[in-house]
Amino acid sequence: MEAEKAITLIGQYLQSPGNDLLDLACGTGGHIPYWLRHYSVTGLDLSPEMLAVAREKFPNIEFHRGDMADFVIDKKFDALVCLWGSIGFMRTPDNLNKALVNFSAHLKSGGVLLLTPWSTQEEFEPKIVVEATKHSEVRLARMENVRLKAPGLVEVDFHHLIGRDGKVTYCHQSMEIGLFSRQQYLDAIAGAGLELMEYCRAPEIRMGAFVGRKPLFSN
Ligand SMILES: C[S@@+](CC[C@H](N)C(=O)[O-])C[C@H]1O[C@@H](n2cnc3c(N)ncnc32)[C@H](O)[C@@H]1O
Repeated sequence: MEAEKAITLIGQYLQSPGNDLLDLACGTGGHIPYWLRHYSVTGLDLSPEMLAVAREKFPNIEFHRGDMADFVIDKKFDALVCLWGSIGFMRTPDNLNKALVNFSAHLKSGGVLLLTPWSTQEEFEPKIVVEATKHSEVRLARMENVRLKAPGLVEVDFHHLIGRDGKVTYCHQSMEIGLFSRQQYLDAIAGAGLELMEYCRAPEIRMGAFVGRKPLFSN
């Protein structure tokens, strides 16, 4: 599981003495139960709808609404995690760099950033994904068309068929995701003043994880 591997990696490199973790692009908080086993957790996401669900699930946790590129929280953390390729929502290399500088500003010295790319340019493959699931009374069929829209930009088209109460409805959603090269990630990490500890490739983490650390005795 991605979150368990992330916890191991953070523990391996963490040098700051605290246990404050910020979950970036936390969504509905799917990873939060794992973080809570080891850390005092704060969540950040751009979407008020996602945050509303997260707040209901975790009423004792502090959540902030903000954009990864420029959020401000008046606190520094021991660990920052940005999983499930959410960093792809930064879309452009400039925004990627800006986000990393902002992440670094919210890290204590000796603190660790763990970042999983959505995909890297080197590993990207266009594909059509198909999946069908049942959740008690609801049937869901999903096709995802993943294609390169422009250099460095992927478009994902989601087509959903939802079967419920004797009716089938169709819904379509589209999103754009920045496709950065390995070097662009490494440059963004270094440009933000973080030291690369590891680019971990492990079966639990689909596209790998960049692990950066803020040097000791830095601001
Ligand atoms: C793949 S989901 C993350 C899921 C989450 N880890 C979970 O466990 O539910 C991506 C999340 O990124 C958020 N997001 C998109 N753009 C963002 C941005 N610029 N800043 C912060 N969050 C953003 C979305 O609202 C969404 O919740």
